[in-house]
Amino acid sequence: MPVAQGGLRIGEPGWIGPLRLKNRLIMAPMGTNFGTGDGLSTERDRHYYALRAEGGVAAIVTEAMAVSEGGRAHNNSLWIYHDRFIPGLARLVEAIRQHDCLAIGQLNHRGGLLRRMVLNMEPVGPSPWRNPNTGDEVRVLQADEIRAIQLDFVASARRLWQAGYDAVELHAANGYLFQQFLTQRINHRTDQYGGSIANRARLLLETVHRIRDALPDFPLWVRLSCTEYCDDGYPIEDVIAVARMLEQAGVTALDLSGGTNESPALSRFCIQPPSMPRRALEPHARPIRAAVSIPTIIAGRILSPEDAEAVLEAGSADFISLGRALTADAYWPRKAFGKSPAPIRGCISCNVCFERLTLERDVSCVVNPMLGTEFEEQALAEPQPTGPTAWPRPAPRRVLVLGGGVGGIEAARVAAARGHQVEVWEKAARPGGQIHLAVAAPDKAEVEPAWGYRWTLLQSLGVPVRCGVDADATMIRAFAPDHIVVATGARPRPLGIPGATPLQAWDVIADPALIPEGATVVVVGGGIVGLEVADMLILRGCRITVLEAMPALAPQMARNNRTDLLLRLEQAGVRFHTKARVERLVGGRLEFTADGAPHAVVGVDHVIAAIGALPNREVLPAVEAAGVPYTLVGDANQPGDFLSVLRDGFMTGLAVGLPHATGAG
Ligand SMILES: Cc1cc2nc3c(=O)[nH]c(=O)nc-3n(C[C@H](O)[C@H](O)[C@H](O)COP(=O)(O)OP(=O)(O)OC[C@H]3O[C@@H](n4cnc5c(N)ncnc54)[C@H](O)[C@@H]3O)c2cc1C
Ligand SMILES: Cc1cc2nc3c(=O)[nH]c(=O)nc-3n(C[C@H](O)[C@H](O)[C@H](O)COP(=O)(O)O)c2cc1C
Ligand code: SF4
Repeated sequence: MPVAQGGLRIGEPGWIGPLRLKNRLIMAPMGTNFGTGDGLSTERDRHYYALRAEGGVAAIVTEAMAVSEGGRAHNNSLWIYHDRFIPGLARLVEAIRQHDCLAIGQLNHRGGLLRRMVLNMEPVGPSPWRNPNTGDEVRVLQADEIRAIQLDFVASARRLWQAGYDAVELHAANGYLFQQFLTQRINHRTDQYGGSIANRARLLLETVHRIRDALPDFPLWVRLSCTEYCDDGYPIEDVIAVARMLEQAGVTALDLSGGTNESPALSRFCIQPPSMPRRALEPHARPIRAAVSIPTIIAGRILSPEDAEAVLEAGSADFISLGRALTADAYWPRKAFGKSPAPIRGCISCNVCFERLTLERDVSCVVNPMLGTEFEEQALAEPQPTGPTAWPRPAPRRVLVLGGGVGGIEAARVAAARGHQVEVWEKAARPGGQIHLAVAAPDKAEVEPAWGYRWTLLQSLGVPVRCGVDADATMIRAFAPDHIVVATGARPRPLGIPGATPLQAWDVIADPALIPEGATVVVVGGGIVGLEVADMLILRGCRITVLEAMPALAPQMARNNRTDLLLRLEQAGVRFHTKARVERLVGGRLEFTADGAPHAVVGVDHVIAAIGALPNREVLPAVEAAGVPYTLVGDANQPGDFLSVLRDGFMTGLAVGLPHATGAG
């Protein structure tokens, strides 16, 4: 009997039909926008997938590929409607399989969720509808068009098989064409494709049968949403019935997801924000697993090896589908199995990756600055002090990092691992900077890995971090650095309102007791910090109004997470005004205009300022007096977020000592 990797259940080999998987970990399909404008696989996505295969997953389900010429999902997503896509996909498969990893190709048609803004794709579906994301009208499919789409799926499955894929997966989840037919919410047809669940499942079942007839030996998986997470969504009995029909039809595995991408409110259940529990889909997946004897695979905020073990231990699924966890760290499996000493770089469920896709940009990851640059040497992502490296190893330098927030720590970590002698000086009594504020609001504890992973590595590199140090030119000269990283962060932007002395949101987040329970509060600024302080004050029973000068609230947040937070705030009675301009506070009455119209909040106890941040560069005169070249990093350069700050820190750490990086500023 083979030994489980790492002595873990997730390390046990398993079977899906004829396919042997070396462990229980499967990479979830995730769009990247790394393809060409005309849908071909690129060198970039080959490296991206190969690294994840090398990282130890047993199988990779590559991102949804559009089966029809009229069905493109994104401007740079993969297409498979023609034989010309086969050679590129064959190279993609080869890149995956060279690491003893199986390649599964996901096929999709978005149906009514096609977007005219993407290459003018026409939304089509079972019944009259509007794409809720875009308002585009959905044209009803006729029987001959349904048959043509089924044949597109068959031809595309054949192309996957020709490209060397190990199996095909039909995407019948997340609100796309198959699910639009499955759900009585959207499918109001009166022909053989509407009505009973057998009829609503007919499009999917006929497609399965056609593929089985054409490719009897090609394993076929189906992805289903266990639940739609809406009142009028399909009931669990329907999903169980479909699951049984699929098993009967020869499907070899069910890949279980949830929700529908038809609006941010429902998409939250496909790609879950941190307010949803870890292993979010488990309760919905369990009855489906119990109803069939083919293996089930489950995704949904399974972020740590402990989460994954617990799913298998609870008997909720046979295999684990890891999505964002592998975006954040391709080596997650290797690390879980004890084959790599570094800690896992944990996903923080911020959904910036998905947001970028939605905005038609290539996917990036907040905690993993190397995502999308896998063609670069990977040793750079987690550089070690020794070992081979294609990048020139710079001559060792003395590096002083001023500021021990995430930006400074990231620069210090990378520079130290590249062989430099690094020290961090932090002015406050403890390192971390704004991370202490960023983890404070409800559900925000999940962002801790943005800090913890880097801090752990910095400790293992033995970099001294001296706290309570107020650097001056003399001290800097005495340390004699060759280069200084100025990562001194930001300060909250002050707010002046006639008649008011606003508190800063940062101070309230650090100490919510500054606001008495039940107080009436106006938060000026509806960005992430303003909304989070409101979220915290709900817990103190406050009556809260948020005023935002811009037309939208927290546009910098990923929409799944923003929608989640806004719904929670609205349910708690928080009031919002956009395009707001604060006038004055008189006798507890805060006067403002919103969209030009006058308004007031009466009985105001506190005004809280959350109007952004200004770079803190107070240390620069000392640095310049010491005459040492320096680089501004993170919020000290320009107030941003973890994405910008970690990139800055990472790139600066890499560049120290290289010829182009020796100049000042
Ligand atoms: C409430 C809140 C929630 C947030 N949530 C998110 C989020 O969910 N996602 C996201 O992407 N971003 C979020 N952010 C933004 C993010 O936290 C910051 O962009 C990031 O932490 C900035 O990192 P930094 O290292 O540049 O600066 P900081 O974290 O500010 O660190 C700077 C450090 O420098 C120290 N320092 C200052 N002067 C000196 C000196 N002279 N010498 C030595 N040390 C000095 C400071 O004490 C501090 O420790 C949030 C911010 C706040 C306030
Ligand atoms: C950027 C991104 C793209 C995605 N694209 C797809 C896709 O092409 N097909 C699909 O079935 N699911 C897609 N998903 C959903 C994931 O497969 C997965 O079900 C979801 O992210 C939840 O799992 P996780 O918590 O492990 O990330 C995508 C998710 C993300 C974050
Ligand atoms: S961008 Fe955020 S949600 Fe996406 S993988 Fe990275 S940390 Fe996770």
